Amino acid sequence: MSATTSLVDELEQLERSAATELRSSDDAEALEAWRVRYLARSGALAALLRGLGGLSPEDRPKAGAVANRVKNTLEAAFEERASALKSAARTRALESERIDVTLPARGIRLGHLHPITRIRREIERVFLRLGFSVVEGPEIEWDHYNFTLLNMPPNHPARDMQDTYYIANVEADGPAGGRNDVLLRTHTSPVQIRTMLSQKPPIRVVVPGKVFRNEATDAAHESMFTQIEGLCVDEHTTMADLRGCLTLMIRTLFGEKSEIRFRCGYFPFVEPGAEFDMSCHVCGGSGCKTCKNTGWIEIGGCGMVHPIVLGNCGLDPARYTGWAFGFGFERMALLKYDVDDIRLFYGNDLRFIRQLS
Ligand code: DAH
Repeated sequence: MSATTSLVDELEQLERSAATELRSSDDAEALEAWRVRYLARSGALAALLRGLGGLSPEDRPKAGAVANRVKNTLEAAFEERASALKSAARTRALESERIDVTLPARGIRLGHLHPITRIRREIERVFLRLGFSVVEGPEIEWDHYNFTLLNMPPNHPARDMQDTYYIANVEADGPAGGRNDVLLRTHTSPVQIRTMLSQKPPIRVVVPGKVFRNEATDAAHESMFTQIEGLCVDEHTTMADLRGCLTLMIRTLFGEKSEIRFRCGYFPFVEPGAEFDMSCHVCGGSGCKTCKNTGWIEIGGCGMVHPIVLGNCGLDPARYTGWAFGFGFERMALLKYDVDDIRLFYGNDLRFIRQLS
């Protein structure tokens, strides 16, 4: 084999292996190493070109032409590869630094309403629509309003139904005259008395608020909880109106299929008195764990305002009738939000409140 042929072979072989290696050089560093290996003054191509000098003058042009072509091809391939890598790097950088200007701003974390507050507002809304006003009364109350005028005079046995926190016995111009017991109200019913003493019928009020009982705390009992009282006094209002209002309330909170039922119950300030239940919102009345297979869930107490109570407040029982109801929010919130421990409502654990929102 002549020196020309072998030089040309070597050049072509170099061209092929250089092209293969170039394809797998995929970063700037590998590309530079490739350039040094093939195109630099000390590289493989230059080494072959030096062999041209050893050829005879007539062989030189042919080998020289091949050498030039290989050189040009490799240089062009290098440039092309370099610019392809550069633009790929640029695309990557743009992609990773990309800012989506259409993204919404990071939200500001708002607070949440406490579940008891939500229930209270929902119930208030029902009664506001029916023409009731929302009123409040003091949490520290006279014994006289909490018990006596509600037809539970001193020593009345029904006082024992509510474990009362007595605060003081004061010499003051209290409503009873002389000495007066002061207590934490055990229910919102004393606000019935306050309302009837200060307003003339027609009266339509609901009274949400905290109440206190000296109870052992467990999953169903807290010594502080929240009730709402309803009171309507007018010339012709009846138990049917009471029932209609309670039914509307329950349906608003638990759905159109909900029903109310009355069971005979004793509260000294109403006659007749009743406890009211709602049909179980979980099983619809067929019986399940929530309603202990009865189909009904106990909600609260209600009844026609006792004539003695109307009289205690200066209202003529021959002219006026009234009805009232009262129940706790916590029980309703336990049912509505499917919570199993009343203590969670006052545990101040924000995770609990966020979870329910
Ligand atoms: N005050 C009662 C209690 O806390 C609930 C109650 C029963 C309120 C009957 C009423 C009523 O207005 O008519 O146990």
